[in-house]
Amino acid sequence: MATDSSRIIKMRIKRQDSPDAPSRWEDFEIPWKPNMNVVSVLMEIRAHPVLANGQTTTPVVWESVCLEEVCGACTMLINGVARQACSTLIDSLEQPIKLEPLTKFPLVRDLKVDRQKLFEHLKQVHAWIDIDGVFDLGPGPRMSQHKRDWAYELSKCMTCGCCFEACPNTKRADGPANFMGPAPLSQVRLFNAHPTGAMHAGVRLNAIMNDNGVSGCGNAQNCVRVCPKSIPLTTSIADMNRQTLKQSFKNALGSFGGK
Ligand code: SF4
Ligand code: SF4
Ligand code: FES
Repeated sequence: MATDSSRIIKMRIKRQDSPDAPSRWEDFEIPWKPNMNVVSVLMEIRAHPVLANGQTTTPVVWESVCLEEVCGACTMLINGVARQACSTLIDSLEQPIKLEPLTKFPLVRDLKVDRQKLFEHLKQVHAWIDIDGVFDLGPGPRMSQHKRDWAYELSKCMTCGCCFEACPNTKRADGPANFMGPAPLSQVRLFNAHPTGAMHAGVRLNAIMNDNGVSGCGNAQNCVRVCPKSIPLTTSIADMNRQTLKQSFKNALGSFGGK
C-alpha cells in the first residue's frame, strides 16, 4: 500500500498492565496509510512497539474478532467516545487520537475489558427462545414481513457496551452491581414479540421487575444517541414499562386467585 512519509498519526494510549497496576499514557507516532482504521494502527504498533521518543515498549493489548462492527469486542473510548475500533477511520478523528478502555467494565489489560456482565444480564432476562429438543419441530409460527423487519432492527445488538458506558445509571467497573442497562431490556422486547418467545414473556418481565431492572432507567436518553446500530432503546424501555405494568397486574391477580 502506498504511504505518504510526510504524514504521521499521533496516538495516545492509556496503558495498564493488570487490573491493580497503575495506569500511564504512552505516545506513538505511526506512518499514515490510506484508509486506516484504529485497529490497523494498533496492529502497526503491535508489530513495532516503539514510543514516539524512540523507547521500546510492550505491545498494546486490545480485543477484536469480526473486524466489521458485528461482534462488539473492539469497543473502546476513542477521543472520549465509546465506539468500535474496527470501524472508526483514522482520517475522521482529531489528533492526537486518545484511546482508553471502557470504564464501566472490569479492566483486563490496556484497552481490553471484561464485558461478561452484559452476558450475565442477557441470561438473567432469558434472552433466547426455548425449543423442546434438537429434533425437527416442523414449521414455526409465521411472522409477517413487516414484523420481521421490525424485529431485525432490535436483533442487531452486538452487546458492544456503548449504551452501558453512556448511561448515567449504570455503575463503574469498581462499583456495586446495579441497573442492567438498556440493551438487555431491548432484548426482552425482541424475544417477547416473537410468537414462540412470547410463551416465556412473563419470565422475562418478572426478571426486569427487580432492583436492577427497568425501574433503574432515568430516561436520560444517552443510550439511544450512542448505539452504533441505531437501536430504538428508549422506545424499547417505554414498551418494557408498559409490559411490566401489565405483568404486575397479572401477578397480583395470580396471587389473589391462589389464596
Ligand atoms: S443496544 Fe446498541 S449500544 Fe447497546 S450493546 Fe447493543 S449495539 Fe451496543
Ligand atoms: S434512557 Fe435510561 S437506559 Fe438510556 S441512558 Fe438514559 S437512563 Fe440509561
Ligand atoms: S472487531 Fe467486531 S465489532 Fe470491531
